[in-house]
Amino acid sequence: MKKLTTIILAAGKGTRMSSSRSKVLHPIANQSMLSHVIDTSQKLKSNKIIVVVNKLFQIPKENLKTNITYVVQKKQLGTADAIKACLKNINKNDNCVLMLYADVPLINISSLKKLINLKSKKEIKILAFKKLEKNNYGKLVIQNNLVKEIIEAKEFKKDTQPVECNSGIFCLNAEALIKFIPKIKNNNSKKEFYLTDVFKLAFNSKYHTKVIFGEEEEFMGINNKTELASAEIAMQDNLREKFLKQGVTLVDPATVYFSKDTKIGKDVTIYPNVFIGPKVIIGNNSVIHPFSNLEDCKIGKAVAIGPNARVRPGCVIGDNAKIGNFVEIKKSKLGKGSKVNHLSYVGDAIIGKNVNIGAGTITCNYDGKNKFITEIGDNAFIGSNSSLVAPVKIGKNAYIGSGSVITKNVAQGALGVERAHQIEIKNWSKRLKRK
Ligand code: UD1
Ligand code: CA
Repeated sequence: MKKLTTIILAAGKGTRMSSSRSKVLHPIANQSMLSHVIDTSQKLKSNKIIVVVNKLFQIPKENLKTNITYVVQKKQLGTADAIKACLKNINKNDNCVLMLYADVPLINISSLKKLINLKSKKEIKILAFKKLEKNNYGKLVIQNNLVKEIIEAKEFKKDTQPVECNSGIFCLNAEALIKFIPKIKNNNSKKEFYLTDVFKLAFNSKYHTKVIFGEEEEFMGINNKTELASAEIAMQDNLREKFLKQGVTLVDPATVYFSKDTKIGKDVTIYPNVFIGPKVIIGNNSVIHPFSNLEDCKIGKAVAIGPNARVRPGCVIGDNAKIGNFVEIKKSKLGKGSKVNHLSYVGDAIIGKNVNIGAGTITCNYDGKNKFITEIGDNAFIGSNSSLVAPVKIGKNAYIGSGSVITKNVAQGALGVERAHQIEIKNWSKRLKRK
């Protein structure tokens, strides 16, 4: 049986990112590069996943998964040194050790599957791509279809370099790794221990150092903000393609942004200029109108959102509900068929079924120190321009007169109205003119 150990290298300094945040925690489609690679290795059914990190790295909550071993590389002496730090966690009987780089996040399962089907203990396979323009990737020196060695871009004295670029991702038997890693030296311009030197050592020991070619887009390494932006574009295109194939209507796909974990049902339409942040689920037949922003929320079936709506974290929107233009809703539950159609702020509210929230209604959920809840029962009608000062409860079938500032609970079926009596002064205009 195949025993697969996956090592993810994530300890680098990431200086080219010019950021105080660890390089591998930068997001693509709202998920860190490291998480993308962890997800991929989990889908591959690795027996063991080892992530090599530096001593400053704090493991994000989302990555605290039980089947992941974190190993600290004390000093960043190069990629081979990072592997040395985790050799003690590698069992020599593992017939398949896969090297992944946390800064190569777009890698697909299908490419990795081609890599991990090693035929013998003496086989090593690497993923590569061809690129004619000058670049900083390591280059493969190929002889009789085998990789003779990999030379880092910086180590070339001449301007001409091979076009075969190293993705960094390769797979070999644990015994081979244990044998070659200690032999790697740092006699190069950067005084670093290059993991890529494994190939020279293996080739010279008559190993079958094979190469599988693919596309740069999938293998691209992210070292700076420009490359991060390119990866985001590529990932967004993939997500758009996935949702279009799934039957989602995107009126202008290039202007709709998704997160890696976005889930969308059948016959959903999304109009131009919509941003979907992390943890969003959209039910069947819903419509998201232009310029809407959704984050960490569950949208039911046949819901209409926007245009220009903001649905913030913690919202659950019931089937057939409507959230209209210039409405912000946060940490609230909106029952089936309820409507907040115009210019409202709804926060920390529990709203029943078939409720109508009039234009300009505000839930005043915050007193400057604490947040409070507004509860609104089924079929209630909140008149326009009302302020509901939480904590407050509006009963089922109750009405609120428009313009009210409601500070006390309103009973079922009652009318709550808080408004000064209107007075009328006759002939006001004539009085004004006399002055
Ligand atoms: C590396 C490869 C290069 C390849 C390219 C693909 C080496 C020597 N070079 O170059 O051939 O074309 O990736 O993208 O491997 N890391 C550690 N500890 C260290 C140094 C790096 O864990 O001491 C990690 C980084 O976090 C990163 C990965 O290893 O995830 C690659 O390191 P990086 O410095 O980005 O290597 P490249 O110069 O891109
Ligand atoms: Ca890199």
